[in-house]
Amino acid sequence: MKVEHDRSGTLRGFASDNNSGISPEVLNKIKKLNPGHVVGYGDDEYTEKAVEILKDNFGSGSFPYLVFTGTGANVLGIAAALKPFHSVICAETSHIYVDECGAVERFTGCKLVPVETPDGKLVPEMLKKYMVGFNFEHHSQPRIISISQASEMGTVYTIDEIKDLADFAHSYGLLLHMDGARLSNAAVTLKRSFKEITSDAGVDILSFGGTKNGLMAAESVIFFEEALTGEFKYIRKQAMQLSSKMRFIAAQFIAFFENELWKRNAQNANLMAQKLYAAVKVIPEIKVTQKVEANGVFAIVPKPAIPLLQKVFFFYPWNADTGEVRWMTSFDTCEEDIAEFTERTKEILSGL
Ligand SMILES: Cc1ncc(COP(=O)(O)O)c(C=O)c1O
Repeated sequence: MKVEHDRSGTLRGFASDNNSGISPEVLNKIKKLNPGHVVGYGDDEYTEKAVEILKDNFGSGSFPYLVFTGTGANVLGIAAALKPFHSVICAETSHIYVDECGAVERFTGCKLVPVETPDGKLVPEMLKKYMVGFNFEHHSQPRIISISQASEMGTVYTIDEIKDLADFAHSYGLLLHMDGARLSNAAVTLKRSFKEITSDAGVDILSFGGTKNGLMAAESVIFFEEALTGEFKYIRKQAMQLSSKMRFIAAQFIAFFENELWKRNAQNANLMAQKLYAAVKVIPEIKVTQKVEANGVFAIVPKPAIPLLQKVFFFYPWNADTGEVRWMTSFDTCEEDIAEFTERTKEILSGL
């Protein structure tokens, strides 16, 4: 089954996979499950079905909860395991550290410890120096290692890399949290199931996202340890992530797994990133800076070209000092987008 492309929208771009619309299959499912009344707040048959589907895909030892936002999923998943004197070790490029306005710190009271990485990925070797201060009352107590899969730099952890991190975390009594806002893209790259790349690899707490892959405000927290779920329903409600009309988040997750929509969407986004990479890497003025393993391309572009390019195909600068930019592809990116962007890029660069 092919992904349908609708290029009728006015603005096309590579700013973010959040900027694309909603998969037609998802809209249809919402419409189909719309008539009639069902009980609110998740006590309905559709939510039950969505949770069942998530359990089927992540394993019987998984405990899924639906929420609205990726930030909410990260904050709440982490909050379930932390006391305010704990710390979370994460990449300095991680969404929780850079792009959540301090939400984790505010809601949990804990400390985030950023670790420098060349490619957005943590490895145990980088973390050893942070495994200090245990049982010392003057220090925050390390409790969680948080990784993003795919990472914010468009790279993907292999299963062995995840297992190494999980073993490392567990050997110090820590938990492994995974921000899976783009887990579908990583699963497609690794050609493995969600279960194999999360619970089987030792992940304890997962944010599993849908919004970046064709859903609308549909995210989830999945625990792989029942003990972490005891108070979670109160945490979710108090943090305003319990939807009264839960059936529509549930409907989206149901659609996500029908005919493997999640896979088709992520396959398209990843393929388009490879095509974009192939098109720009041969342009002499452009230097691709990261491996393209999911749906992001990072590149250094001559600085004067950036605002001109942004006018035709909007995207965000990543590092204003170096001229590094981030181009994200989406479930609805198509070959025409890549061709048009490449052509305009060449024109703009030759006119500098
Ligand atoms: C890696 C990552 N995690 C989480 C999120 C969740 O964000 P939001 O709260 O905007 O849904 C994002 C969104 O850009 C992201 O890139």
